Amino acid sequence: MKSVHKVFISIAMVLAACVSTAILAMQSNDVGQVKLPSIKPGQYVHQAPTLADIQNDKDLHPELRKVILKGRDLFMNTQQLRGKNVFNDMNCKSCHMGEGRMAWSGPVWPAATTLPDYRGKNGHVNSLEERIAGCFSYSMNGTPPEYGSDTMLALVAYHQYMAKGAKLYDRNIGGRGFSSLGTAMPADVSYNQGAVVYALNCAVCHGPNGEGKRVHGEVVFPPLWGDGSYNWGAGMARVFTAASFIKNNMPLGQPGRLTDKEAWDVAYFINAQERPQDPRYTGDAKETREKYLNFHKATLYGTEINGKLLGQHDNTGEKPFLKPDVLKPRTFAEGVVPEM
Ligand code: HEC
Ligand code: HEC
Repeated sequence: MKSVHKVFISIAMVLAACVSTAILAMQSNDVGQVKLPSIKPGQYVHQAPTLADIQNDKDLHPELRKVILKGRDLFMNTQQLRGKNVFNDMNCKSCHMGEGRMAWSGPVWPAATTLPDYRGKNGHVNSLEERIAGCFSYSMNGTPPEYGSDTMLALVAYHQYMAKGAKLYDRNIGGRGFSSLGTAMPADVSYNQGAVVYALNCAVCHGPNGEGKRVHGEVVFPPLWGDGSYNWGAGMARVFTAASFIKNNMPLGQPGRLTDKEAWDVAYFINAQERPQDPRYTGDAKETREKYLNFHKATLYGTEINGKLLGQHDNTGEKPFLKPDVLKPRTFAEGVVPEM
């Protein structure tokens, strides 16, 4: 039994090796076998610096270079913050692929060029720190590093450097985020067909139960649901966000291989599975859904699927707490001295 398991892992590893070659090919602009959405006329694109650029930039003070490289290291291997800021199996690069540089895979540099900005999700003006903090609270099912801490400074420095040479506050950015398929879920989206797409295209790496895969304790394929995955408040829990991410990035190394319908179906299927509680939980999933409907209208949280009310539970995964620091209210009313 054990050796069968080993063979399975080796097959998966070989597969992964092939596809990382495909990713490399893609990054060197050999777009032969991949189909990504085209950039619309007038949209702005920016080529984010590479690791070699960081290493060779003569203008960087050696101390600053160290901090940027630390930020990159934390971005690629965020598991080093496990139990402190991270309480699931994710790394930042699990969703922001290609070191956070790839178009259609949530490139991170636009955050550095467009923040501070108002954000509907929390209803106030957000800083870059706060945007990063949001992904810690939800995508990493954790709690953000303190603003101003070494960890936060390093991550901010990496994000900011990725934006080197990009235009400030130009929001007409091609390939930003994930949302190329639009936000309207097709009326004929199908859980059952999603399950079939999953079994045929995804289970080999992400596991038959979405649990992902570890080799020698290291996460090689991240989980898609369950305790090791993103929580119910994460951007990826929105069906349209997952559908676009999947369409343009999955199966690994084969962007654009699934039809739009297949991407919607499998995103629906994945996001109809249980995951750690939304940190904004009021004790009642339906009520929480209503309270944050602006966000949750795009998720299946607090709705009934196959006779089960999704999100009605106290499971926070490995995380011992619920409410993230990021939800502190803020006011900038006239005459009010802002909090320290
Ligand atoms: C489970 C997937 C996932 C993981 C893991 C994740 N993110 Fe994100 N991230 C997203 C999604 C989805 C969005 C877009 C959310 C939206 O559209 O509102 C996003 C947006 C962002 C943005 C804003 C990008 C922009 O265009 O303005 C930044 C910056 C960011 N993430 C940083 C991070 C960092 C740093 C980490 C690791 C600590 C991380 N993310 C981990 C899914 C993820
Ligand atoms: C060859 C292995 C492989 C296959 C097949 C594959 N993935 Fe992935 N997937 C990965 C890896 C590896 C990552 C993380 C990327 C990284 O760390 O660079 C990932 C990341 C993801 C993520 C974001 C991170 C998370 O865990 O939530 C989602 C969602 C996802 N895959 C969905 C799918 C779906 C849906 C399919 C099938 C259509 C699929 N994947 C097929 C390897 C694979």
